[in-house]
Amino acid sequence: MGLFQKVVGAAIRHVFDNPAPPSVAQARTRNQKAWNQASHSPIYGYRYRVARIVDETPDTRSLWLEAEGERLPNWQAGQFVTCCISIDGQPLKRAYSISSAPNEGFLRLTIKRLKTGQVSSYLHTRIDEGDTLTLLGPSGQFTLDQHANGPLLMIGGGSGITPLRALIAEQLQRYATRPITLIAAFRSEADIIFKTELDALRTEHPQLNVEMVLSQPSKHWKGPRGRLTDRSVKSLVGTFAPDTQAYLCGPEALMALARHALMEQGLAHTQIHEERFQAAGTRPLSLSETPHAIQFEPTGKTITAEPGQTLLEAALTNDIPLEYSCQVGGCGHCRVRVLEGEVIESTPNCLSESERAAGYRLACCSYANAPLRITQR
Ligand SMILES: Cc1cc2nc3c(=O)[nH]c(=O)nc-3n(C[C@H](O)[C@H](O)[C@H](O)COP(=O)(O)OP(=O)(O)OC[C@H]3O[C@@H](n4cnc5c(N)ncnc54)[C@H](O)[C@@H]3O)c2cc1C
Ligand code: FES
Repeated sequence: MGLFQKVVGAAIRHVFDNPAPPSVAQARTRNQKAWNQASHSPIYGYRYRVARIVDETPDTRSLWLEAEGERLPNWQAGQFVTCCISIDGQPLKRAYSISSAPNEGFLRLTIKRLKTGQVSSYLHTRIDEGDTLTLLGPSGQFTLDQHANGPLLMIGGGSGITPLRALIAEQLQRYATRPITLIAAFRSEADIIFKTELDALRTEHPQLNVEMVLSQPSKHWKGPRGRLTDRSVKSLVGTFAPDTQAYLCGPEALMALARHALMEQGLAHTQIHEERFQAAGTRPLSLSETPHAIQFEPTGKTITAEPGQTLLEAALTNDIPLEYSCQVGGCGHCRVRVLEGEVIESTPNCLSESERAAGYRLACCSYANAPLRITQR
């Protein structure tokens, strides 16, 4: 019997042997009822008014946000916020990069609608100018290294352009001469996000070089065409200075090939910064097949983590209101410290080596591999 069948079998047996726990969605509803009424709390979020909506492409729109009665948050170009939405009573959270830079004086999110995606569809069809949204954050480390001042190379695809556009705007205003190259992949001319803005920036700032690559362009398209490959990335990038800093954001396959091409050209992994819009990896392969007890300190409350449940899912299902935000290992909000026991975790995630050495783990991407004793901070 394969591991998958064993894990599923163990889970099914456990469900039949034990009364059903509330679903994660139900637990989240109970724990986070305050979301929609909440305002101005670092845990429940801050409220923003949608001042303006701009359709960027047929499936992508930007929301320009104003803080309700407050100043805009302090954020760094490249960071994201977490949008907290309640749809038919089900609280949902999704991360969205801020597509504007702080020195532009406005806060903007740019959201691509996924066909059956809950939150992106909601933001496209049920949010109007004048409505309010609850956001957590800002979070994230996809920001510029303040100590590096070499040329910038940005490679992105689709909605991955959002944090790259913020980084570019920030740098162009700050430095008159720092060279920036953007290689951005889209399907067709109609799918290019921020085309007008990027064209204007390119005209105004000669140090910005933009290469759009279209996989299904019209016959009038004069730029590069086809899917980005290892070879095309190398040829578009050409030779680069040894102190170049690269920023990648887009579909996983595109990021993987760009990373590979850049490393083959001699860039060190410390010079390559990546932002993922999906969870970094699939669940770890060798998950424990048995339920494990988790004791939370300092209360001593003990719950059971079912096979395949993350620590976050186990906590929320059992009414332990662990903090969380992005749920993909990118923000650190769900950090817990493991005092006893062992977990299996998906990597990469945003914990530093020193945090990991001190016993910290991210609840959204860790699974119990033994009975645990943990604390939230
Ligand atoms: C750090 C970070 C920054 C991000 N920034 C941006 C950004 O700037 N812009 C942006 O557009 N996105 C961004 N994202 C992605 C965003 O957070 C959401 O993941 C995205 O909007 C999809 O959420 P959703 O609720 O619409 O889709 P979900 O409901 O979560 O669905 C996710 C996927 O599953 C598919 N799916 C859903 N239901 C079903 C079903 N029943 N059967 C089969 N498939 C199904 C959907 O089609 C979709 O492909 C970012 C993510 C992260 C982690
Ligand atoms: S919720 Fe963001 S890292 Fe876990």
